[in-house]
Parts: sequence; C-alpha cells; structure tokens
Amino acid sequence: MGIQIAPSILTADFARLADEAAAVSNADWLHVDVMDNHFVPNLTLGLPIVESLAKAAEQPLDCHLMIEDPDRWAPGYVEAGASSVTFHVEACRAPIRTAREIRAKGARAAMALKPATPIEPYEDMLSELDMILLMTVEPGFGGQKFLDVVVPKIRRTRDLISKHGLDLWIEIDGGISAETIERCAEAGADVFVAGSAVYSADNPNAMVEHLRSLATEAIS
Ligand code: DX5
Ligand code: ZN
Repeated sequence: MGIQIAPSILTADFARLADEAAAVSNADWLHVDVMDNHFVPNLTLGLPIVESLAKAAEQPLDCHLMIEDPDRWAPGYVEAGASSVTFHVEACRAPIRTAREIRAKGARAAMALKPATPIEPYEDMLSELDMILLMTVEPGFGGQKFLDVVVPKIRRTRDLISKHGLDLWIEIDGGISAETIERCAEAGADVFVAGSAVYSADNPNAMVEHLRSLATEAIS
C-alpha cells in the first residue's frame, strides 16, 4: 500500500465534522479517536457520531478505541461504518476473539499498544491482525510531544512482521509532524496519524501531501 496519511479529527471543529473531513480530501483515512474517560482521562465521541460521519465523509474511517471493554464495543463500530477498528491490548480481555469478530464483520482489525507496552508477547498473534498501532504519546490528548523512545519498537515490530512474512501495516499516532515523520518511516511505519499538525496548518490538504512526501522520501 505504501505510505498512508490518516488525519485525526480530535483537533478538528466537532461542530463541523463533515467540513473538516472534506478539508483533508487527500487523506487515505479519517482517524477517529473514541475516548470513554475511563481507559483515558478524556471523553470524545461514540457510535452515533461515527455512524453519521461514516455517511458524511468520503474517506474510510479508522476508529481508534481508547475505551474499556473493547471486546464488547468494537464490533459495533464496524456496524456503524468504520473500515478499520483498533482496540487497545491493555484494555482487551480476548484480543484474538475481538480481532476475529472485527474481521468477520468486514473491517480491518488493528491492535494498539501504549508507549510502554512491548510488542514481543504478541508475536504469535500478529497473523490475526491487519495493523499494529504504536502510540508515540500516552493516549488521551492531541498536541503532545512525540516520544522518541518508541522508535526502536517500530523497528522491532517491522522485523517481527518480516520474520513471519506477514502483510501488516504499522500505524503510529501522537506527535507526528514534519519534524518527526521521517524517522518513523525509516523505522518501518507506513500509516501516519496526524492531528494538530494537519488541522493547525493553514492548508490541511497541503500538509497531508507534505507529510506524505517526507515519509515517501525517507524510505526511498
Ligand atoms: C491521542 C490520539 C491521537 C491524537 C493525535 O490519544 O490517539 O490520534 O489525535 O494528535 P496529535 O497528532 O496532535 O498528537
Ligand atoms: Zn488516535
């Protein structure tokens, strides 16, 4: 698939979500951060808004569930129209079953790891997934500083995927900007979430293209 850019609507204007989606028409995905004020200390949106946004936006929705009990809720996000659903391994009781349910309903299944969660214990279940999301900030808020400490984990994750001959995407999320995207692409990430970098730009679509070209250059 190559490099893909997924703007996060967390820093967009929530009263104008359809317009904010249209402002990043060049994006491959629209990244939707679902927070429940339990798994993370912040509250955003849930199923009804995802359902409306899936109808209003041109881009497929990449739903990042920062919630407790994703085992119960994740399949509903596929039914609401998400094309990719990501659950956090730290919150999930049965990640293999949950990933299979997401796939069975027709979406891509992804598992997210907080910055301090290692990838190695999950080596044997990588084949159950379509994507690994590596958080490059502690989840909960946009606009935080990129954690360089995660870059070696991106590299180790890419090595594990290659070792097993799998076709998994690595998405990174948190503090991604023109300053940080290249080192992540070099380390093996291929799907880039960017919230504040895109939505604080004068021209969000131009920033999407700028980030895409920086990442593409970095791996060429
Ligand atoms: C943070 C969210 C991110 C957030 C990224 O918990 O998962 O998707 O919107 O925002 P920036 O790009 O501003 O770090
Ligand atoms: Zn996110």
